[in-house]
Amino acid sequence: MKAKDIRALFLEYFESKGHQVYASMPLVPDDASLLFTNAGMVQFKDIFTGKIPIPSQKRATSAQLCIRAGGKHNDLENVGYTARHHTLFEMLGNFSFGDYFKKEAIAYAWEFVTEILGFDKSLLYVTIHESDDEAYELWCRHIDSSRIKRMGDKDNFWQMGDTGPCGPCSEIFVDQGEKHFKGEEDYFGGDGDRFLEIWNLVFMQYERDKDGKLKPLPKPSIDTGMGLERVVALLEGKFSNFDSSLFMPLIKKVEALSGQTYVYESGASFRVIADHSRSVTFLLAQGVHFDKEGRGYVLRRILRRAVRHGYLLGLRKAFLYEIVGAVCVQMGEHYGYLRERQNAIMEQCKAEEERFFETIELGMSLFNAELDSIKKHKEKNFKGHIAFKLYDTYGFPLDLTQDMLREVGLSVDMEGFEKCMQEQKDRSKAHWKGSGDSVKEGDFNTLLNEFGENTFNGYTHTQTKSRILALLDSNFKRIESLQSDAYGYVMLDSTPFYPESGGPVGDKGILKIDSNIVAKVLDTQKFFGLNLSKITTANVIKTGDLVDAQVDSSRLEIAKHHSATHLLHYALRKILGSHITQAGSLVESNRLRFDFSHPKALTNDELEAIEELVNAQILSQSAQICENMGITEAKEKGAMALFGEKYGESVRVITFGDSIELCGGIHVQNTAEIGSFYIVRESSVSSGTRRIEAVCGKAAYQYGKNALDSIKILKNTLKTQDVMQGIMKLKEQIQTLKEKVGKGGESAKTLESEILNEVKLIVLNLKNIDTKEAKELVDNAKNENQKVAILLITQNENKVTITAGVKNAPLKAGVWVKQVAQELGGNGGGRDDFATAGGKDISKIKEALDLAKQIARESLK
Ligand code: ALA
Repeated sequence: MKAKDIRALFLEYFESKGHQVYASMPLVPDDASLLFTNAGMVQFKDIFTGKIPIPSQKRATSAQLCIRAGGKHNDLENVGYTARHHTLFEMLGNFSFGDYFKKEAIAYAWEFVTEILGFDKSLLYVTIHESDDEAYELWCRHIDSSRIKRMGDKDNFWQMGDTGPCGPCSEIFVDQGEKHFKGEEDYFGGDGDRFLEIWNLVFMQYERDKDGKLKPLPKPSIDTGMGLERVVALLEGKFSNFDSSLFMPLIKKVEALSGQTYVYESGASFRVIADHSRSVTFLLAQGVHFDKEGRGYVLRRILRRAVRHGYLLGLRKAFLYEIVGAVCVQMGEHYGYLRERQNAIMEQCKAEEERFFETIELGMSLFNAELDSIKKHKEKNFKGHIAFKLYDTYGFPLDLTQDMLREVGLSVDMEGFEKCMQEQKDRSKAHWKGSGDSVKEGDFNTLLNEFGENTFNGYTHTQTKSRILALLDSNFKRIESLQSDAYGYVMLDSTPFYPESGGPVGDKGILKIDSNIVAKVLDTQKFFGLNLSKITTANVIKTGDLVDAQVDSSRLEIAKHHSATHLLHYALRKILGSHITQAGSLVESNRLRFDFSHPKALTNDELEAIEELVNAQILSQSAQICENMGITEAKEKGAMALFGEKYGESVRVITFGDSIELCGGIHVQNTAEIGSFYIVRESSVSSGTRRIEAVCGKAAYQYGKNALDSIKILKNTLKTQDVMQGIMKLKEQIQTLKEKVGKGGESAKTLESEILNEVKLIVLNLKNIDTKEAKELVDNAKNENQKVAILLITQNENKVTITAGVKNAPLKAGVWVKQVAQELGGNGGGRDDFATAGGKDISKIKEALDLAKQIARESLK
C-alpha cells in the first residue's frame, strides 16, 4: 500500500464515521507560541480551548503536514541517525470536540489498524498513562491485559507546547519481531526500535496555562496522530522509514548525483538529505524564505545541514535543488501547489545552496584544522571563537557545528561562543535584525507568558494612548527602563504601529509623553507574535509609562503602494495569465517591488497593458471592502488560494473592484487615493521569476514631474515647443552629416596612421561610433588606399568591438582581430580581408591597441 492509499483510507474511514475532512493547514501557524505546525491538532487548538465555538460537525479528520525542527518538539538532531525521525512528516488524525471520548477513540483506532490496515493483532501492544484506569478497562476489551503497559508523564502525557491543550495519552505499538532487534532496549516499553509506536491517542482533558497549571477543558476531547511515514514503512515490510517508497526514490537520486552507493549502516548523510529536502521543499512552497532569523533561519539551518552532508558525500556544487525537484514531482501528486511552484522552489533552493558552497570549503578546512589542534593538544572543547568564526564568516549555523562535533564526541565551548556573539552585537548595536541565533524563541517567551500577544489597533487609529508593557535592550533582553539616547525595543499594550509583514515595511513614528517626544520609532516588526517597535530614545522611558503613540505620515504612502500591489497582482494575472504567483514583495512609502513567477521578459505591450489596467482600477474609484470570513467562503469569492486551511480561522479579505486578496495589511480606503501608477522597471530575478518596480501616490507625482522637467529642458535645448519635431530635425541633420562623412570619406582619410613598407597602418580606438560606422570607415580606408591594414576598436557601454580590414598586405584580418579580442577577454575572427570580433574587458583597451600595432608591425616589416 502506497502513502496515498493509506492517507485516502484513513480519511475515508473517519469520514464514514461522521468526521469532516479538513485539508492540511499551513506549516507556518498563526500562533506565537509555535515555530511550525507540529501536530494535526494545531488547526483545532482554539476549538479545544473554547476560544472559538465548537462547529456543528463535532468530529474532524485530517492528514496534516508537520515540521518538528525547533521549539518543544524538535527532532532535527536525530534525523539521519535513527530509523524514524523526520523534520517533516504527515500526521493522520481524528478529532472529537466534546463529542466522543476514550471508548470510541480506542475502538476506532483498533478497527482501523486491524481491519482496514490489516495489522496482525498478535503484534500489537499499547501503553496508557499510569493513572488511566478507564483506558485500561477499555483496551482490555480489544487486547490481552498483558500487552497494556502503564507509563508516566514523560511517555504518556501529551502537550502541544509549554502552554495549551493537553492530556494523558495512549499509544499503539507494533512489534517488528525479535529476530531483527536484539538490543538491550528492545523490550516493550524500552527505548529500542523493535516496538514501534504508530499512533498516539490523546485524551484532551486540560489546558496548561502560562504558570504551568492544568485547568480542565470545557469539554473532554480527542486528538490523535498516526505517523504516515511509519505506517508506510511497516506495511512495506521495511525496518526503517528511509527504506520505504517515500524516501528510497530520493536516496536513489542522491546516489545518482554523488556517484556513491547507499549502505544503511553508513548512510546517515543520504538519509539527512532525503529528509531535509522534503522540509525545504514544503517550507519554500509555503512562502518561507531563507532568512537571518526566525523561521527563515530554521529553513536555512535545515538546508545547510543537508548541504554539509552532500559535501561529505563528495558533492561540490549545488545538488539539493535537484532532490527538491524530485520531491515536487513525487509529493506534488497530493500537494498540487508543489508542481505549480516547482521551478521557483528549485531556483530558490539552488541560489541558497550556491551561497553556502562559496564558503563551505574554507569553513570545513577551518573546522578540520581546529579538530587536529584539539587532538594534538588533547583538548576537550572546540574553541568558541572558532565556532563563532564558522558561524559569522562561513555561514555555519551553530547547530551545524555542534552536529559535526557530536559525530566525534566533542562540543563547543559555549561561553567563548556567546562572548564573541555579544562582542559582535555590541559592535553593531544600531542594527535592527538579529544575527540569527540571537533571535531565539526563548528570548520572547517571558513576554508571551506574561502578557500574551499585544493587540494591534492601527487599522482604525494612527494615534493612540498606549501603555509600555515592556522594554528590551538592543539584544532583546528585558530591562525596566531605557536611558536617553539609547536603542531598544518597546512592547505597547495596544499599538497603532503596523509590523513589517510579507511586503509592507513596518511603521515608523514617535512616542510622546506630555507633548514631549520621548522616543522615535524607527521600525516595527513581529517576533513570535509580539509586535515590537524599535526605538531610539530622547528621554528616559520606563515600563508602565503611558505614551502617545503616533504613526508617521509615511504610513499613508505605504498603504497606497500596498493597495497598488494588489491591483498590480490582479492586472498581471489578467494580462499574463493565472500561472502568476507572487514570489516576493516589498512595499515602501516611495516604491513597490513585486516578484512573480513568469517564464520570460515582459514585452513593452504587456507592460503598457498592465500599467493601463492598474490605472483604470485606480480611476474607477473602487472603495475598499474589508471582510472577515471563513476560508471556504473566501475561496468561493475568488480570493487567492492558500496552501491549506485552518479551521475557524476567520481570514481578512480585501477587495478593490475585481481584486480580491487575503491580506492582513493596511490599505487605502478607495483606489482613487493611489493617484496614479507607473511601472519604472521590469527585470529578471532568477530564471522563471520576474520583477516589476513601480511607483504610485506622491512618488508617482515626482516620477511624472521629473519626466516633464526633462522635457522642459529638452524644449529649451532644442529651442522648440515641439520636442518630437526638434528631435526628428536633429536626426535628419545627423544623417546628412553621416552621409557627408561616409561618401566623402573625410574621416577615414584623416585617421591617424603610419606607413610601413608602403602599407598604411591604422590602429585606433574610436569612441562614439557604432559598429556599422566602424565598418564603413574600414571599407572607406580600403577603397581609398592601395595597401592598407586598419583595425578599429569601438565601444558601446560594456561591449567592445574590433573591426579590421586588410588590403594587399601580409596580414590576415581574421587572425589579427582574434588575437586582439583575446587580450580584451573575448573572441572572434573572420576572413583575411575583413573580420570583426567582440571583447569584454574595457580596461584592457590600451593594451589591446599596443598589441594590434605590435602584430601589424611584425607582419609588415
Ligand atoms: N497531538 C498528538 C501527537 O502529536 C496526537 O502525538
